[in-house]
Amino acid sequence: MKKKYNSEEEEVQYNCEEDEGQFTGNMLEQPKRNCLNNLKPKSKKSKLNSEEEDDECRFTGEPIPVVEAKQQWPHRYLSKGKWAIRPAYAKGWESDEIMQACRHYNEALIDGVTVRLLDDVYIQAEEGTPDYITKIVELFETVDKEQYITAQWFYRAEDTVIKVHAELIDNRRVFFSDVKNDNPLGCIVRKVNIAANPSNVGVDKSHELFCDLSYKLPYLTFANLVPDGQNQGGGSDTSSTISSDHSSDEATADVTSNGVAETMQEVVEPKNEMRLLDLYSGCGAMSTGLCLGASLSGIKLVNKWAVDMNQDACESLRKNHPETEVRNEKADDFLALLKEWERLCNDLLLSAASPSPEVACSEEEDIDDDSPLSPGEFEVETLLDICFGDPNYVRKRGLYFKVRWKGYGPEEDTWEPIDGLSGSEDRIKEFVARGYKAKFLPLPGDADFICGGPPCQGVSGFNRFRDKMDPLKDSKNHQLVVFMDIVDFLRPKYVLMENVVDLMKFAGGFLGRYAVGRLVGMNFQTRMGIMAAGSYGLPQFRLRVFLWGAHISKKLPQYPLPTHEVVTRGGIPNEFEAVYVSHEKKSCPSLAKALSLEDAISDLPSVTNYEEQDERPYEGSPVSEFQQYIRLKREDMISFNGSAEVALDCALYDHRPLQLNKDDYQRVCQIPKKKGANFRNLPGVLVDSKNKVYLDPSMERVFLPSKKPLVPDYALKFVRGTSSKPFGRLWWDETVSTVVTRAEPHNQTLLHPEQDRVLTIRENARLQGFLDCYKLYGSVKERYIQVGNAVAIPVATALGYAFGLACQGLADDKPVTTLPFKFPSCLARKEE
Ligand SMILES: C[S@@+](CC[C@H](N)C(=O)[O-])C[C@H]1O[C@@H](n2cnc3c(N)ncnc32)[C@H](O)[C@@H]1O
Repeated sequence: MKKKYNSEEEEVQYNCEEDEGQFTGNMLEQPKRNCLNNLKPKSKKSKLNSEEEDDECRFTGEPIPVVEAKQQWPHRYLSKGKWAIRPAYAKGWESDEIMQACRHYNEALIDGVTVRLLDDVYIQAEEGTPDYITKIVELFETVDKEQYITAQWFYRAEDTVIKVHAELIDNRRVFFSDVKNDNPLGCIVRKVNIAANPSNVGVDKSHELFCDLSYKLPYLTFANLVPDGQNQGGGSDTSSTISSDHSSDEATADVTSNGVAETMQEVVEPKNEMRLLDLYSGCGAMSTGLCLGASLSGIKLVNKWAVDMNQDACESLRKNHPETEVRNEKADDFLALLKEWERLCNDLLLSAASPSPEVACSEEEDIDDDSPLSPGEFEVETLLDICFGDPNYVRKRGLYFKVRWKGYGPEEDTWEPIDGLSGSEDRIKEFVARGYKAKFLPLPGDADFICGGPPCQGVSGFNRFRDKMDPLKDSKNHQLVVFMDIVDFLRPKYVLMENVVDLMKFAGGFLGRYAVGRLVGMNFQTRMGIMAAGSYGLPQFRLRVFLWGAHISKKLPQYPLPTHEVVTRGGIPNEFEAVYVSHEKKSCPSLAKALSLEDAISDLPSVTNYEEQDERPYEGSPVSEFQQYIRLKREDMISFNGSAEVALDCALYDHRPLQLNKDDYQRVCQIPKKKGANFRNLPGVLVDSKNKVYLDPSMERVFLPSKKPLVPDYALKFVRGTSSKPFGRLWWDETVSTVVTRAEPHNQTLLHPEQDRVLTIRENARLQGFLDCYKLYGSVKERYIQVGNAVAIPVATALGYAFGLACQGLADDKPVTTLPFKFPSCLARKEE
């Protein structure tokens, strides 16, 4: 099958194969090594039974007994003709037809050197291109007496999704694929020594190359090599393994009898608690969902630390998650602080000369210096907090402690630089000991799991000043680097990064490729998936890309398959179609009906544009299953820990809209209450045959009492007059496009179906899957931002479940898994 795709810069034709019947697209990263008939063999002759030894290649030794060969490669003996249709069990082939053989061999002679089945070799590439690398998985003679090998390819980093960021990867590192094709024996250049090397072990110099991960196109997966015999999908020829020239120092990998590096995958006992760090946490939707989902799988994942520079978002997270150390600071400062913290812990507690943390902690009581203070001198009572940055806004960045002064109250607390605290070394030591014990900040290895959505505003379609040449130089994308630097420093076992799909669209996916390159460069396994929120039980499309990372000692988590029917609306760059998380085309899973706006919000009481209450009673009962569960009280939820400060009663929070100004309110009042209504329904607006709006020349323009036009110019000009979004009304049976951070109706469809206002904060929160008990803090605008920024809760819950399965070793090697529950009913505590 051939398929064409367009990326922003290029249009490439590529071959498409189906892996496990799962995917409809294939990737640019497929190396163009369709050697079959394309590659010109070197000047070497490929000759049968030749006596010439040098500059020549031929099979040697006895052929494999036919019965054995037919058993091992049945697809080669289907027809007497040159070609046969590829049978379903023969996977990993680029072609639909399979060349037929009359016999198979175990070895061949290449320029006087013997190469054997499962040896790795270089294959001649086009001029100017480095030779390709492959494993020989078959040596066979065709029915018309030609000598062929079947090549199963290794990819260099530049052949994978990492592509332009190959410099992040050791240039001796290659990735084993399951892509195979046939090539004339004469294409072989020479044998190559590839170490099956676990990433955390130094590579023996005698190996030119090393390979520790496989690379598969579905979900762009870099994963541990699957030991022979454990491959998915069966078929007699599906498995091939990395060869076995192991040096003795490859200590941490177990080598199976057939030479496969089998890394030990640790499994977490369900009772163990795992610690999550939520970076760029916003109000905590992503970590909330992940912890809920993990709990559904039997894993206790605790949202231990969260970092966000937005104060209100931090407040929301803190109030809903009292168990979390919420750090209201910039991620860059957080990273600098982590480094300082590690240094302090090492110097003050962990070095041979320092007391144990317990002793240092108890020293607090002993610090009691009663000598009188001279005038102007103050005494430190205790240290309360630590930060890196410029907390006093004096343009002096550094490490600071928050000080409670002896004889003064909290209102007199100040931030003091560490070098201004000479004489308080004991207080510092006591603070560090206390923080170390309580894991106030994570040290390398402390965070089991890091999740986060680093903002990359430099890729947004709204941003006209995007740097396409080097998006990483754009400071608006710098947080992607910071996120990866934090991962690099803390070395968690699992990583999950979320982002807008533009990350994969902008500049040919430059930033997405960078993210994968960084993780693989740090020796993580990775896989990428694009998920639509609506497919997991919400009336909202919302596409987001998620990138998993897992340490090589762990199982790489899967992507949870949709539970609900939702037709996605484009938005996935063709090149990345293969990472869209969806059921196989052929399979017919029983998906629940897509939810509608009515299912989500029809029970909420009417409020006007001028509603100002942050808390009010519900008034009516829930009328859909979604409404019933989204109203769950905390104590009725799974994994309720009883300590949240909010929402233990039955109040309805945040059900108030962004107040429209008088003009907009008057416009909104004139938008009919019917499906599809928008500014085009206002008097004086006409639409031409090309769906473009214009003002009716036969009537006078209508003005509001403020003298502003009823139909504003910006609405007429939006998307060159072709958009029907300005002042658009949602309708009850609809799925909302994407909940956004600004509740302005000027260029978006977000009016309530029957009330003259935009959707309230709570209505938006429901569309994102927040339970009603998740109360938000900050101004109305800030609360909309928190909700609009959030990872949809059911998506995070589904991913959390997949994470839990992987931790317990319950995930298989398939990139996707099926969820045994549906949102939001899964969140209800089951009666014991
Ligand atoms: C997309 S939102 C994250 C939403 C969050 N994952 C959730 O599910 O609720 C991005 C967040 O990054 C925060 N942010 C932006 N730049 C930051 C920085 N330099 N350091 C820390 N936080 C930052 C913003 O305040 C915002 O809350």
